[in-house]
Amino acid sequence: AAPDADTLEALERLAVEVCVEAGRLIVDERPANLGVSKTKSTATDVVTVMDQRAQDLLRTRLHEARPQDGFLGEEEGGAASRSEITWVVDPIDGTVNYLYGIPSYAVSVAAVVGDPTTPGAWRPVAGAVVNPVTGELFHARHGSGAWLQVGTATATRLEIAAPPQLGHALVGTGFGYDTGRRHWQATLLLGVLPHIRDIRRIGSAALDICAVAAGTLDAYFERGLNPWDMAAAWLVLTEAGGVFTGLGAAPPNDQMVVAAAPTLHTALHEVVLHAAERSGTETTGG
Ligand code: IPD
Ligand code: CA
Ligand code: CA
Ligand code: CA
Repeated sequence: AAPDADTLEALERLAVEVCVEAGRLIVDERPANLGVSKTKSTATDVVTVMDQRAQDLLRTRLHEARPQDGFLGEEEGGAASRSEITWVVDPIDGTVNYLYGIPSYAVSVAAVVGDPTTPGAWRPVAGAVVNPVTGELFHARHGSGAWLQVGTATATRLEIAAPPQLGHALVGTGFGYDTGRRHWQATLLLGVLPHIRDIRRIGSAALDICAVAAGTLDAYFERGLNPWDMAAAWLVLTEAGGVFTGLGAAPPNDQMVVAAAPTLHTALHEVVLHAAERSGTETTGG
């Protein structure tokens, strides 16, 4: 069941508010000597102090506003839900860009229904993604369209444009941190690259998926995403008229996501599916 219209509106407003506040925090309080505070799955899977600080801020604000809701973030500290809603947040999506000072990173905040740890068992109902450097703020709630607001300008409604043919499509992707999967990732890319205009690896999955909604990328695919990378951007894309799926009949999941306008989605999905089948199974990683 979807939350009622008033609830959806309140969820979207809250997502925007906390997302913008966390975005301000990571820009304004970025330490001059920012370094890696720890690594996770591999030596290149880094976390900075600001990832945890931003997540703590999001968790505190969301708990103050809606204490019954669950919370799932990329960094430490979750909470089970006692309502129909769980907040799924990525406090900094594009941590490596943030670390290097490349201005393509985001805060992503989504309210979801269902169990976000089980693919196919959940869906986003409201959400926001902000690039705090450019001021681009994407937001959506179920059934009310996707919106892009830049700074203090009035929000504009996003409607995905008629896409080019696959051969002319500019396609975003990303490569997860599992260094045991590098060979597989390269093989997959070999299967896709000859069919498209070019690849962009910008470094923030949430911004990439929102870029498809806004038309600054034509399509996107990636293996290895977690719910917090995709939750808010998934809704922005689909509310703009885009399609967001896994491979075959699978819902979006960690094995693959494909995002594009309907006709281009069909064409790209086909190529990614064949390339994935031909790439075989990697030796490490899941
Ligand atoms: C990563 C970014 C990156 C994508 C990785 C994600 P993080 O998130 O979205 O673009 O390729 O798969 O894990 O670690 O910067 O939040
Ligand atoms: Ca992320
Ligand atoms: Ca992150
Ligand atoms: Ca991370």
